[in-house]
Amino acid sequence: MKITVVGAGAVGATCADNIARKQLCDELIIVDIKEGVAEGKAMDLMQTAEIEGFDTKITGSTNDYSKTAGSTVAVITSGIPRKPGMTREELIGINAGIVKSVTENLLKHSPNAIIVVISNPMDTMTYLALKSSGLPKNRIIGMGGMLDSARFRYFLSQAMHCSPNDLQATVIGGHGDTTMIPLTRLATYCGTPVANYLDEATLKKVAADTMVGGATLTGLLGTSAWYAPGAAGAAVVEAIVRDEKKMMACCVSLEGEYGFNDICLGVPVIIGKNGWEKIIDFKLNEEEMEAMKKSAEAVQNMNSVLATLGV
Ligand code: 2OP
Repeated sequence: MKITVVGAGAVGATCADNIARKQLCDELIIVDIKEGVAEGKAMDLMQTAEIEGFDTKITGSTNDYSKTAGSTVAVITSGIPRKPGMTREELIGINAGIVKSVTENLLKHSPNAIIVVISNPMDTMTYLALKSSGLPKNRIIGMGGMLDSARFRYFLSQAMHCSPNDLQATVIGGHGDTTMIPLTRLATYCGTPVANYLDEATLKKVAADTMVGGATLTGLLGTSAWYAPGAAGAAVVEAIVRDEKKMMACCVSLEGEYGFNDICLGVPVIIGKNGWEKIIDFKLNEEEMEAMKKSAEAVQNMNSVLATLGV
């Protein structure tokens, strides 16, 4: 099996690293537009093979998509990352053109690939990949909610002094500082509501910290984060190639589900060999639905910018 990661920046390289260590494929292709970078990262990663004990053959390519031919899954991380003070949405002008052409190039050589989108603004880039490719909706998956849910569990685990592995907590909605919706009411610790252990103010702070989780890291690092985004991307790939039927919050095309149409938005989905296979209805309450409507409106406004960019 062949998997491609486009973009050899920090997120792409971390995603590739995770894919190799998990032995998700026998061939892994990394593509980047900058001369030599993908080849260099591929060689560096290959030199960890004996240390880590994986057999995946990793090849780098400077923009030669013929090497990606026959990929089962392709991950798009291309585009510029945000700098401190920037929102993900501000990246649209540059990243839209890049994501569109990357999607076209990938599908030219791998017409059956499932596409996982990480590039920001992720909800709009997922929508763009779907619309510009005309692919069946199940084959386009935006990764954001998987990452945001992991951050939600991290902040909850810090507040509860417990293992993040004992928590179930999901973030739906958009992958933006103001559009994501940490579902605090539905979060559980070993099957019991987290509200049994944390007071209202702490739960509000956990949700607020989650929403600006990416921005906090951008402030600390001077660029956007990569370990968790790369690992989250690889987890989505793993669920596809191992046909796990795992529930993940991902950005997918909605056709009436949760009451929305013509939008890609984060909802709980089942991921397996066909891409996203089913949307789960979490039976949101009125307040949560209200937040979803606001989130959808913001994402739809961002999507409408695509037309002005001519992509
Ligand atoms: C993040 O939230 C890169 O959007 C990604 O860190």
